[in-house]
Amino acid sequence: MSILVTGGAGFIGSNFVLDWLRQSDEPVVNLDVLTYAGNPENLASLDGDARHVFVKGDICDRALIDRLLAEHRPRAIVHFAAESHVDRSISGPGAFMRTNVEGTFNLLEAARAYWSQLAGEEKASFRFHHVSTDEVYGSLQAQDPPFAETNPYEPNSPYSASKAASDHLVRAWHHTYGLPVVTTNCSNNYGPYHFPEKLIPLMIVNALAGKPLPVYGDGQQIRDWLYVTDHCSGIRAVLAGGRLGETYNIGGWNEKANIDIVETVCALLDELRPDPAGPYSRLISYVKDRPGHDRRYAIDARKIERELGWRPAETFETGIRKTVQWYLDHPDWVARVQSGAYRDWVSQQYGG
Ligand code: NAD
Ligand code: TYD
Repeated sequence: MSILVTGGAGFIGSNFVLDWLRQSDEPVVNLDVLTYAGNPENLASLDGDARHVFVKGDICDRALIDRLLAEHRPRAIVHFAAESHVDRSISGPGAFMRTNVEGTFNLLEAARAYWSQLAGEEKASFRFHHVSTDEVYGSLQAQDPPFAETNPYEPNSPYSASKAASDHLVRAWHHTYGLPVVTTNCSNNYGPYHFPEKLIPLMIVNALAGKPLPVYGDGQQIRDWLYVTDHCSGIRAVLAGGRLGETYNIGGWNEKANIDIVETVCALLDELRPDPAGPYSRLISYVKDRPGHDRRYAIDARKIERELGWRPAETFETGIRKTVQWYLDHPDWVARVQSGAYRDWVSQQYGG
């Protein structure tokens, strides 16, 4: 038995693959096209490990997916591959439509063809697990209750619209064709291997480099934050026991305003790597707001707890400390990501 993971060289996908193989000997076939966000160095500890089969390829390549499914006969597909950065979706939405919408469509069609010819227990136990985001629900006002699975979809950015579209496709493939799907909608993740274009890793690496810490607008936008390995354990719980066709929200019960996140990162760095020039918070710089910036996300994660007994293991205090420490302990990873050295390695290794 094996599973097929898409996007397993990205931030959450690589954490998921590493975590999976720490807990199980079930092999992982990892399909990732290695965009700027996909970094094979995240998986370096698996070099030579026969349980991990890395395939550089595109989820839009139907022939390749058909071949991988026929060859490896996975019992599940866990679909992470996506364009994931809101700011990039604003400046260039096309890639989001291609990967997040067309790519998911393509993967669903390949999964449907593969699943249709399975029989017996193999067919009954097959799963298509779609990994999605809380951003599909839109933006909350201060007094609104957190997002439940029953909230209407009101995506506001090209990124969240493309993810919402993919969620709808997954739902329809279950409803119309009976494909055995589960979907998870998770809040903002943070932790090791997070590409330094997103808020938390950007603040850490900029602070260490003495660069400004750009806070959009008034910094009072609220997100729910979940340590990445808790997201991975939530996905494993839903993959193992989630009801077919259902969606499960995954969150950390951890709402924080952006400015509080940035202040916390600064305070931890003051403690762990004090700067003789003064507290890191001196670098905070308010900048022009993101267009269409969602004000607040919050997750009601009671369904996954009630049905599957899942709760996050980390608090924000333990998770953010581990995260800051990880970045302090991995300056080479940061330097190579920032210099583009890993892109050179990818072209050398995979020929462009
Ligand atoms: P990421 O941008 O770090 O990684 C995405 C990965 O997908 C990269 O390795 C990239 O190379 C790969 N990829 C992109 N296009 C591809 C294609 N066409 N074919 C094959 N591979 C392709 O993203 P992430 O933060 O790890 O997010 C993973 C998933 O989780 C996404 O679906 C995202 O929407 C969802 N999600 C993310 C968060 C978060 O806070 N980061 C929260 C909730 C849900
Ligand atoms: P981000 O990490 O891009 O995740 P998302 O937009 O998917 O929630 O941003 C998290 C929050 O931080 C969001 O409200 C935008 C804000 N932000 C900044 O204030 N400055 C920055 O430089 C970045 C990247 C984000």
